[in-house]
Amino acid sequence: MKRLLPLRVLLPLALGVIVSLAVLGFAEIGYRRLEFANKAMSAALEMETAVNETLALIGDAESGQRGYLLTGDASYLNPYKAALPKIDHTFARLRELINTNGSTVMIDHAGQLNVLIGKKLNEMESTLALNERSGRQAAFQLIDTGLGQQLMEQIRAQAQSILDELRESSRRGGARWAQDIEFGRVGMLTMTAFTIALLFVVWALARREISAREAKRRTLIEEQRRLEQEVTARTEELSELSNYLQTVREEEKSRLARDIHDELGGILVGAKMDVAWAAQRCKSSLPEAAEKLDRALAILDEGVEMKRRIIEELRPTLLDNLGISSALDWQVRQACERAGLNCELNVADIELPPEVAIALYRIVQEALTNIIKYASARNVDVELLADDEGVSLIVHDDGAGLPSGVESSRLSHGIAGMRQRVRALHGTFKIGSRPGTGTTIEVFIPVPKNAQDAQTIDQEISPPLLPSPAPSPAS
Ligand SMILES: Nc1ncnc2c1ncn2[C@@H]1O[C@H](COP(=O)(O)OP(=O)(O)OP(=O)(O)O)[C@@H](O)[C@H]1O
Ligand SMILES: [Mg+2]
Repeated sequence: MKRLLPLRVLLPLALGVIVSLAVLGFAEIGYRRLEFANKAMSAALEMETAVNETLALIGDAESGQRGYLLTGDASYLNPYKAALPKIDHTFARLRELINTNGSTVMIDHAGQLNVLIGKKLNEMESTLALNERSGRQAAFQLIDTGLGQQLMEQIRAQAQSILDELRESSRRGGARWAQDIEFGRVGMLTMTAFTIALLFVVWALARREISAREAKRRTLIEEQRRLEQEVTARTEELSELSNYLQTVREEEKSRLARDIHDELGGILVGAKMDVAWAAQRCKSSLPEAAEKLDRALAILDEGVEMKRRIIEELRPTLLDNLGISSALDWQVRQACERAGLNCELNVADIELPPEVAIALYRIVQEALTNIIKYASARNVDVELLADDEGVSLIVHDDGAGLPSGVESSRLSHGIAGMRQRVRALHGTFKIGSRPGTGTTIEVFIPVPKNAQDAQTIDQEISPPLLPSPAPSPAS
């Protein structure tokens, strides 16, 4: 069975409970012994009082009897008569106390005292009876035998023995009591010392536990920090790589656009000039051929237009020639016009580093493609603003909104591409939608103010990537 608490906690706890029970036991035993000693003490006091009282009553009875015999005055008999029932009563109480609390020796002495008291009372009664029957002289003769005196001495001796025995047992009880108190004191001291030791052990264990936890927490924090650093470094590397790949891709597209422009453009223009010349010549002599050549000219024009579109797709010449603001303006207007959308544009006239400009241009391109393909929107808002920290772009449509889970879908390459471009430039990308309110894309790319200014100067002094200006059918 699995233990609920570890042994190092369970053990001091169990010992703590045992020590508490032991302290309780000691206190209870001490109380019981004290109570017992207290009862024994008050019983001893009561017995001593009863013995002394019995002796005094017998003395009273004897004095009354003697007074009567000497004076013949009957009033002297009153104390005698009054003492007799009291003697019975007091001695009965004494015997009861001795039988309950006294030792066997005391019980023996009480028995003998009982016999002696009986004899003494008989002796006094007999003397009085003789006085009644045979006169005072006869009574005095009986007294003179010394029997009464003897009995009284024996009674006193027996009473003294009981008192001595009582004192002895009180002394023994007192000694035992002192011993008990000492035992209780030592026991309490031991338990208290043990409790303090136990508390110390618990304190040491708790300290060790806290230190262990603290060390574990520190290791975890350290490990977390290391992992975070690793993730940041990897993310940085991936962003760099992505940035590099985007740049390479854009450069590749640029090169392709330039080749198509220079080579295919030259071929098409040459072919067009030759066909135009031939068509001119055939116009009067070979009208059928001239007609075919005119058709070929029209096809060549289509080829030129297609070449221009392909070049524009590969590398937006407007971006290179007129900058991000004009390129975006043109791109949005063109797209909205083609798709029959109302567009609201708020594009600040700014200059940006080429990698930021092309990223924003491509993001707007993908966003517009998606709006036209999926949103069934009527209005599109595009906003491009810049401040000291960077540039922000917002593209909003009032279409159907995103289907659920599309943000994290691995098939959403368009959205993933937008996000990746922004991340590569250390920016933030958000796409969100609520049913009935369309979709909003928010992008922020940090571009320090001085980089924006520098770009303006660069832009002024460096030639554009593609030499051609705004698209023209001839180029
Ligand atoms: N503006 C929008 N309004 C409504 N739905 C949209 C909008 N933009 C994107 N979506 C939804 O999000 C999905 C993912 O878009 P994403 O551009 O990532 O991929 P795609 O357009 O389907 O494919 P790709 O862009 O790779 O050709 C789309 O299929 C579409 O359902
Ligand atoms: Mg798409």
